[in-house]
Amino acid sequence: MPRFIIRPYQDSDYDVARNLFACGIEEHSGEAFRHALRLPHIWLPLSFLFLFPALHLVSVTTSILAMTLAVAGLWFGARNLHTSYVRFSLSDDLMDIRKYYMERDGYSFWVAESGGELVGTVAALPSSQPGGEKHLEVKRLSVSRNHRGEGIGKALCRTVIDFAQKRGCEAVVLTTTEPQINACKMYEKMGFRHMQTFIPPAFKYKLLDFKVLAYQYDLPNHR
Ligand SMILES: CC(C)(COP(=O)(O)OP(=O)(O)OC[C@H]1O[C@@H](n2cnc3c(N)ncnc32)[C@H](O)[C@@H]1OP(=O)(O)O)[C@@H](O)C(=O)NCCC(=O)NCCS
Repeated sequence: MPRFIIRPYQDSDYDVARNLFACGIEEHSGEAFRHALRLPHIWLPLSFLFLFPALHLVSVTTSILAMTLAVAGLWFGARNLHTSYVRFSLSDDLMDIRKYYMERDGYSFWVAESGGELVGTVAALPSSQPGGEKHLEVKRLSVSRNHRGEGIGKALCRTVIDFAQKRGCEAVVLTTTEPQINACKMYEKMGFRHMQTFIPPAFKYKLLDFKVLAYQYDLPNHR
């Protein structure tokens, strides 16, 4: 027997639901930063900075200072990608969850509750992608760190799949990012197909090699 229930969103969930989403996104800043440090176009210039004092080009102090600033800049860059997305989402669809998700046909928002505590969220909305008129999109999937690995993420996803099926949709789609490794593994285990990987056009995404992954789950009768 699962130790949690999935139920539709209520107004009293507002603060915790927004907070769960924000924490779930911001926790990936560290992985994005570590990934950036492994990129040749990042670590090569950093290594040169390290060698400069040996070549008598700059002092050791200047070299250390420059390296510290570069690494700190990288950390803030990786963090900013996530915090700016959270800020945008909180002032967009998550500003008025009831109005955006609960009062519109084809939209919905669910929460997972365990022992009276709200521990997970997920949203569904019609896909805005061209050609995706019969596709439903998963968004805002997040599970509290203390309740990971209990099957809540899969149950929330399954809720969206059932909703899409009842509405006669052809597929459930979503995008996630490379640092969200647990999410990618979960989607693949559930039968989502990896459709494409792309890097958004802005320079900051290219610099940090910030990959977005698109997944699709074809509903029975549409496979
Ligand atoms: C992704 C997330 C929602 C998963 O929630 P969860 O409740 O822990 O997921 P579940 O317990 O249902 O596990 C789902 C499956 O993924 C697998 N999985 C999860 N992390 C894994 C890992 N690191 N390696 C291998 N498999 C993993 C589990 O094994 C499980 O499959 P199984 O039951 O067949 O073993 C959760 O990690 C989370 O909230 N992350 C932060 C926010 C986020 O990334 N959201 C996704 C937005 S696109």
